[in-house]
Amino acid sequence: MKPYIVAIFNQKGGISKTTTSTNLAVCLAAAGKSVALIDLDSQGDSTKSLGVDPEIRKGIYDAFIGDAEINDIVVPTAFDNVHILPSTYNLAGIEIKLSEIKDSQRTLVNILSGHDLNCDYVIVDCPPALGILPINALAAADAVIIPVTATPYANDGLMRTLPSIKYVQEGLNKCLLLQGVLFTINDRKKTNRKINALIRSRLGGTVYHTEIPRDNNVIEAASAHLPVCAYAPLSPAGRAHLNFAYEFLERHAKTAAKAGLDLPPPRTQEHAIRILASWRENHARTMNQPLTENIKDQKTRLDKALYGNHSKIERLHLSLVHFFIENRAGFFIFLLSILAIFAIVIRASISGIHIITAFMGIS
Ligand SMILES: Nc1ncnc2c1ncn2[C@@H]1O[C@H](COP(=O)(O)OP(=O)(O)O)[C@@H](O)[C@H]1O
Ligand SMILES: [Mg+2]
Repeated sequence: MKPYIVAIFNQKGGISKTTTSTNLAVCLAAAGKSVALIDLDSQGDSTKSLGVDPEIRKGIYDAFIGDAEINDIVVPTAFDNVHILPSTYNLAGIEIKLSEIKDSQRTLVNILSGHDLNCDYVIVDCPPALGILPINALAAADAVIIPVTATPYANDGLMRTLPSIKYVQEGLNKCLLLQGVLFTINDRKKTNRKINALIRSRLGGTVYHTEIPRDNNVIEAASAHLPVCAYAPLSPAGRAHLNFAYEFLERHAKTAAKAGLDLPPPRTQEHAIRILASWRENHARTMNQPLTENIKDQKTRLDKALYGNHSKIERLHLSLVHFFIENRAGFFIFLLSILAIFAIVIRASISGIHIITAFMGIS
């Protein structure tokens, strides 16, 4: 049967596209499905995260320019039933190469339709921005998932991404389904919760019930070049990624049923956790090696990516503004307190002046 192709896409970087892609791939495999992941980002993060060296000779770039067949580039990963069509660093120059090819927006469609990848799911990890590669992914996909992080600055990515998807749905790929919006790197800060609620109220059932919490285990896992579901299956983010994979499968089963297809059910979630735990054992050696980057540095980098280069004062100011928008009473109490302090200071100053003038015998 033809695999179900899913693009993981948001025009913004640093909002967990790669993390979602690799964890979804590994969780689906643990649930009993076979998966091929296409790494369309020249950074090669998902390639590395699945234990494959992006310095390898051939990758998806070679398939795009017609120098290789899929069978020449697909490689097994460190996880059973997960294969990857890896990224190589020369993928960064693909725009220029593809501009010379006719119908370049459908190159991936042509590559995939000519070959049997022999798997249930193909997951495409997209690079940020709306270049030729994400357009190719959206043109070839049956469904798209948008990871989004509810920060005041990252949210604009969603508002730019939805029209791009509509553009593809109206032209290149009329069958493209927006399967859902997934909240990732979810902070429990009040401002973030408000933004989260706002997006949920706007997009309704499109947003997945599962939310992926912000969890340092993800950063540690990335340093060990492993997806968190295999690095720490029982951690908050590990569990959430598995829950998300099952929610994804449920949504797919519903759409398939509407088209008259009865999909084989996945393994139970408990069974999948046991498999993830066994993979964790296999990788214990990798995990015990020293981490490649200091966790604190990575957290700082992540904050920068999510909140931009805004200083702590600017962020505090923004949180205050959000707080006052949401709490009008709080705003009035704040104003009254400022007025009261002002009045006390003025009264104290007047009394001070009286005392000084009396002391000097002026009045
Ligand atoms: N749930 C999470 N908790 C903490 N850090 C996360 C989480 N998800 C992703 N990250 C970190 O955020 C950074 C960006 O994630 P990544 O998946 O590479 O984003 P993208 O592919 O959208 O650029 C990485 O350092 C990753 O380890
Ligand atoms: Mg990425």
